[in-house]
Amino acid sequence: MKLKISKRAEKISPSATFAVASLARELKASGHPVLSFSAGEPDFSSPKSAIDAAHSAIDRGETHYTANSGVPELKRAIADYYKNRFGLEYAPKEIIVSGGAKQVLYEAIQVLVDDSDEVMLPAPAWVSYVEQIQIAHGNAVVIDTADTGFVPAKPEVERALSSKTVGMIINSPNNPTGAVYGARTLEMLADVARSNDLWIVYDEIYERLVYGGAKHLNILQVAPDLRDRVLIINGVSKAYSMTGWRIGYALGPGEVIARMDDMQSHMASNPSSISQWASVGAIVQAEDDVESRRAEFERRRDILLSLLGEVKGISLACPDGAFYAFIDVRGTKIPDDKEFCRRVLEEKYVALVPGDAFFAPGFVRMSYACSEGDIREGVSRVKEFIESL
Ligand SMILES: Cc1ncc(COP(=O)(O)O)c(C=O)c1O
Repeated sequence: MKLKISKRAEKISPSATFAVASLARELKASGHPVLSFSAGEPDFSSPKSAIDAAHSAIDRGETHYTANSGVPELKRAIADYYKNRFGLEYAPKEIIVSGGAKQVLYEAIQVLVDDSDEVMLPAPAWVSYVEQIQIAHGNAVVIDTADTGFVPAKPEVERALSSKTVGMIINSPNNPTGAVYGARTLEMLADVARSNDLWIVYDEIYERLVYGGAKHLNILQVAPDLRDRVLIINGVSKAYSMTGWRIGYALGPGEVIARMDDMQSHMASNPSSISQWASVGAIVQAEDDVESRRAEFERRRDILLSLLGEVKGISLACPDGAFYAFIDVRGTKIPDDKEFCRRVLEEKYVALVPGDAFFAPGFVRMSYACSEGDIREGVSRVKEFIESL
């Protein structure tokens, strides 16, 4: 018997990054020397302070439902963090904690997007935004930034607007390009939001991972008057290497947070109590770990950039943040990114993610959240592959 599947579910594409990672795992399981550069997660262990806080929460019996939107101690830690880091003040009722930034974004989009609403999104963009907008029956209007240094330019942004546009999703530091938006870009986006009455979902999950002279800014630092139309998204996954704990959070206008809270109460209830306490341990005590890991990512990035610089046929912009290199393969003999990724995986056992998954065909994403040895061996295989074409 064939079960009837909803139209909504039929429209969802599986996550392309997960698809590459699982093919790479299969090849590895059958004995091939696979090197995977597809991961969207740091390879470090979680900070000791997080693990200790989790153990202690279990020992204290913190194993029950918590307040739906998060334990007060975690909300306080998040509020203090935002005050100290960005000078932004948020009350507990303006904060919600969920099962990862992905869930918090899902709830935000469900709360902010109605049928046929349009949401502007600079591309290359993280895979899940568009799917989540579609699940909400909205339309993502993607603008290409490949010709403007992976930063949106005002004419393109304005051209993307229509009477149906309700908001924009901004992600800086960016996955997959590593671009970090400067003050002028953020001011421009804020200006567009202000004059067209739009909301901004500002996903800054990679904010602790910036390199060289780059500085991460929260959009409210350049446009504080937009506090009532900006929803900030963050979490412990990337900064603290805590992807498996599943804790993300949002800070924003009380009414939006309250609606997200209602929605979460019906779809998931509170995120794991143990993970919430682990996150308190991380946010309050793991500052040193964050900085030492950031420095290690910067070291690996520099090695990767210098090695890639020796590979003919490819080019890339220097990524200032996150842990990805976004490589232009249009100058190689395989300009099609999906074909490039399939062949380099099958022939050289190197797993990369096609740019198509980020609405940027002709590019491939290489994560450097892996050892220096893997980076050296991986680039050498990619070089051999391109030379063999
Ligand atoms: C831009 C961006 N936002 C959100 C997320 C989701 O993070 P989490 O693991 O907390 O759900 C990711 C994870 O890859 C991401 O790259």
